[in-house]
Amino acid sequence: MTYRFRDLLALEPLSRDELTFILDQAKPFQEIQKHPLKKLATLRGKTVVLAFFENSTRTRLSFGTAASRLGADTMNLQAEASSLKKGETLLDTANNLNAMKPDCFVMRHSSSGAADFIARHLEIPVVNAGDGTHEHPSQGLLDALTIRDRIGSLANLNVTILGDIAHSRVARSNIHLLGKFGCKFTLCGPAMWVPRELEKIGPPGTPIRCVYRVEEALEDADVIIVLRVQTERFDEPSLSKSDYILLYQLNQERMRLAKKDALILHPGPINRGTEITPEVADGPQSAVLEQVTNGVSVRMAILYLLMIGATGGPHPALEGKPQSAAKESANASD
Ligand code: NCD
Repeated sequence: MTYRFRDLLALEPLSRDELTFILDQAKPFQEIQKHPLKKLATLRGKTVVLAFFENSTRTRLSFGTAASRLGADTMNLQAEASSLKKGETLLDTANNLNAMKPDCFVMRHSSSGAADFIARHLEIPVVNAGDGTHEHPSQGLLDALTIRDRIGSLANLNVTILGDIAHSRVARSNIHLLGKFGCKFTLCGPAMWVPRELEKIGPPGTPIRCVYRVEEALEDADVIIVLRVQTERFDEPSLSKSDYILLYQLNQERMRLAKKDALILHPGPINRGTEITPEVADGPQSAVLEQVTNGVSVRMAILYLLMIGATGGPHPALEGKPQSAAKESANASD
């Protein structure tokens, strides 16, 4: 199989086989993260733009690390320090960065559709690193890789998502990916953040229910995805931070209602003590740091597939290894 798109803008248009293919391509890169020397020469001589028009810690550093571990150079744009503040349009900025002849354009923007818009104007691959409330495809993929590693399969899981789902691009990418594997979703949070229209957002036929009691949402959950609660979205006095903590915070006592080994994910940044308690965030069921480690492998796979494409030859993480080691790693991705 090859990756059939020029860009990675969203997970919604990808089939179950295509999603599995990308996750499988990330697998050998996971081994690279364990090596003392992590740098490959796969993208040597290539340049990746990291254009973050909105703040980011994990995603920007993760794409930067992925690019450098593949041997590519990066060009970094940080919105705060750029000419956007002087009135330059998004398209002008993108065209100017593109005039420096990079080979791939990774971008984050606060407007939904911004990455699609830029992709229509550039001839190089564009990767959406989060656009408004639309999608965050690399996060959806790294979450899936983490779930697949911990649980063994993505098929038919009960996935509960807690928090401000209406504004979450992470929740949308999770639903578009995991929905294709037969997962069922329970979305839970205050009614203003969990409108009933969300029941229709997944792949056709995906069971999605909105519930407003966390106790009900946790029952039978295999995976619990906790979202960051943005304090500026509290609408005092109708919803205060302390109300949220009282009604929805994931704490140890509530965790007893979920399956014994339910897996906990959080895309970060975590507001400890608001949406999740430190005991739960750091507990044995939490995979938050594995998500971060897997993020680098998934982004290496994305950059590799978009910039070179799987050629049918050995995977770049297996090149130069003895045949038996290569075979073993290839089988590990089955
Ligand atoms: C998320 C994002 O920016 O969409 N974080 C991330 O990329 N890891 C979630 C968030 O900001 O709450």
